[in-house]
Amino acid sequence: MTSKIILLVLATIAAVAAVPHKALKRPNHDHIDYYDCTGKATGKHVHPTDCTRFISCSAGGVASDMACPDCNQHDEKCAGEPFLRWSAATGNCEWPADTECSTDGDDSSGDSDCEGIAVDGDCDKDTCEHCGFCKDKMSHFYRCNRTFPSDPKLEITGKWVLESCDSDLWWNPDLKPEGVAVGGACDKWDNLSPETQKKYKDDKSCVDIPPVCAWGQDEADKCSERYWYLDPATMSEKENLSCPSGLLWDQATETCRSCANIDACEC
Ligand SMILES: *[C@@H]1O[C@H](CO)[C@@H](O)[C@H](O)[C@H]1NC(C)=O
Ligand SMILES: *[C@@H]1O[C@H](CO)[C@@H](O)[C@H](O)[C@H]1NC(C)=O
Repeated sequence: MTSKIILLVLATIAAVAAVPHKALKRPNHDHIDYYDCTGKATGKHVHPTDCTRFISCSAGGVASDMACPDCNQHDEKCAGEPFLRWSAATGNCEWPADTECSTDGDDSSGDSDCEGIAVDGDCDKDTCEHCGFCKDKMSHFYRCNRTFPSDPKLEITGKWVLESCDSDLWWNPDLKPEGVAVGGACDKWDNLSPETQKKYKDDKSCVDIPPVCAWGQDEADKCSERYWYLDPATMSEKENLSCPSGLLWDQATETCRSCANIDACEC
């Protein structure tokens, strides 16, 4: 038992020593609301938008946004990058020269509209437009958080922060003043344009519609006896079915009925 503990301590020291630099100029953020640890393992996870940071989920499901250490610019292995990169393979912050930049959302187009924006990065004092995207089944947006000093001689400065829409709202990129290129606001699903709805539905990290069993009828078969059943869990194709003689399919009640009882059909 004791030897196991010693081994563990030695392993921990070795792991810490392997991290190239421990300088840490960027802050960590605790209790963030733009990452959901529900259903995720306790421990470290790939960051949704920034490959130089990672997410830590506590046993209680609290999410923290953690910064990888700064990279000593004189070191070749930094490859000119200011920060180390998170590696899902090693579960550590690693040299940029050895590590691809990857985020949780790399398999989707989710935040491509906001390319080049990173939390804690500087933004211009005149940036009023937010840049939004859908990721992790939530809508998020970058906001230029500006500091207006009380002394007018001091400069107004801005830093990008990541905010989230309420859980029942979506980023609507069309909600912006006329003539503005980017922007938008959180909105209800029904108010999104068909293009935005399609974009979100096509993005599995945004909307994941589970396959469900269904009864249906092709438009051409309306008010006929023909209907179909589909259970994606067990069937790859719709099964064509037919009502007993004299009865028609009623989609409203999902069963066979006599024509007189089906509102949608004239007899
Ligand atoms: C925005 O900036 C103010 C200082 O101007 C700071 O107090 C606040 O915490 C910042 N907000 C976020 C979300 O970082
Ligand atoms: C069911 O009917 C549709 C249209 O009538 C047809 O395209 C499809 O191949 C049929 N499915 C099977 C399993 O026979």
